Amino acid sequence: MMSENIENALNKQIRIEAESSQIYLSMACWAESKGFEGVAEFMFAQADEEREHMLRLLRYLIERGGSAVVSELSKPPSDFTSPKAMFEKVLKHEIFVSESINDLVSITFDEKDFATHNFLQWYVAEQIEEEATARNILDKINLIGDDKSGFYLFDKDVRAMIAQKPME
Ligand code: FEO
Repeated sequence: MMSENIENALNKQIRIEAESSQIYLSMACWAESKGFEGVAEFMFAQADEEREHMLRLLRYLIERGGSAVVSELSKPPSDFTSPKAMFEKVLKHEIFVSESINDLVSITFDEKDFATHNFLQWYVAEQIEEEATARNILDKINLIGDDKSGFYLFDKDVRAMIAQKPME
């Protein structure tokens, strides 16, 4: 059995991962509407990944005898102004998720729940990846600058990044 503290913290993270999925789905729709098809595909794949992150936590919670809560989700923004502004939002959001995972890991220490501590190591590693990917894409955008034709290649590049992500 797990403590109520851990159960609540895991349920909070389940909601954050589910909301991340919604945010990326909304970004996919925005990118699609602006003609960035590669970016849209990337965001659809990200949305699926976040749902997987959510499910992994939920299944763990159930396996340990906790009660998982499927909560209401906040409506994500729908206008992202430009690819640059959008990926800046992605990076900011992933940093927020990393901080939340760190808080969760810290609670597992306080509660001496080393099984959950161990389980969370996958998320710690994943967050390093997610932040690095967002930074990498922002670097590409900054290289393009105001060169409109550069965005055609950028879009193809981002689509190619979907296949490059390491499989779990
Ligand atoms: Fe599951 Fe992108 O954090």
